[in-house]
Amino acid sequence: DAIEAGAFTWRSPSNIALVKYWGKRGEQLPANPSVSFTLDTCATTTTLRFARREGPASGFSFELLFEGRSREDFKPKINRFFERIEKYLPFLRDYHFTIETSNSFPHSSGIASSASGMSALALCLMSMERKMNPGITERDFYRKASFLARLGSGSACRSVEGGLVVWGSHPEIEGSTDLYGTRYPDEVHPVFSTYQDTVLLVDKGKKQVSSTAGHGLMHGHPFAERRFQQAGEHLSELKHILREGDVKGFIEIVESEALTLHAIMMTGRPYYLLMSPGTLQVIRKIWDFRKETGSNVCFTLDAGANVHVLYPEEEKDRILEFVNSELVAYCENEHYICDRIGAGARPL
Ligand code: PMV
Repeated sequence: DAIEAGAFTWRSPSNIALVKYWGKRGEQLPANPSVSFTLDTCATTTTLRFARREGPASGFSFELLFEGRSREDFKPKINRFFERIEKYLPFLRDYHFTIETSNSFPHSSGIASSASGMSALALCLMSMERKMNPGITERDFYRKASFLARLGSGSACRSVEGGLVVWGSHPEIEGSTDLYGTRYPDEVHPVFSTYQDTVLLVDKGKKQVSSTAGHGLMHGHPFAERRFQQAGEHLSELKHILREGDVKGFIEIVESEALTLHAIMMTGRPYYLLMSPGTLQVIRKIWDFRKETGSNVCFTLDAGANVHVLYPEEEKDRILEFVNSELVAYCENEHYICDRIGAGARPL
């Protein structure tokens, strides 16, 4: 049944990939499977207000407020998102929307907000859908929200659920699919269920390469096919590592994935160098610290200069001491964010 007006609010976290998604095909389908930790503190909160429109609807009708301010520049992206998802949510043209969104992390911090932002918006739209079709099961609600989020930004489909989330079909991971993110279904050793992620803001500047351009680089990339295959192999290895609590094995896969992502960007045409000098200094410091102390700290990177420092919760005190004494110097304005593995998106 149609509804006249209302509002829904969701808070959706960011996520950090352990095995990276880089390269896509078709309508936002991944060229390889990936797995991520859903974060907790870094999140987007979105309120979607809606009111039925009068008369025949032409285009989409919406306003966008980011941190209280109207943002015309964000509109084309939302418009494209609506165009893509309209066939799955046929009511979109019948409403006027006000999308109010804010991030828990400072904007222009180099932390991508597309994953948290697109998943929060997809969940708000699904709440509308459920109001009109209340029969939908909880499972299908989340699946479809993740499916829609994927059409906004690939990695966003991994932000709907909490914990470890897999996106992209893998023969050894039951239920995995290219269409949406699913909770990692196999046994996970407790050490991985409370992992910490301290995000060092090494360079807060705007990303040098949009992820659209980055994924595009994989078309015709000399190492693309081998890379896609490798991601699957890494996931297979990770399966045993996660079950056994093999933290050393985890470090090897996660750091290799981060460096491979950057190596792939360095070896494309055009080629990109997305680390800063500070990124490399931090990596060296982490390696030295591990060697000297036997710590299980490791790093990962997204398509930028910031460093995600990952470690088991039991090491929290000594790692934060290490961050404060050795790594904070490489952060812009000494800025870093303490995050951890989280429970996924929730309605407010
Ligand atoms: O979701 P997109 O299109 O912004 O791609 C993000 C890709 C990486 O963050 C670099 C890796 C990943 O799997 O999240």
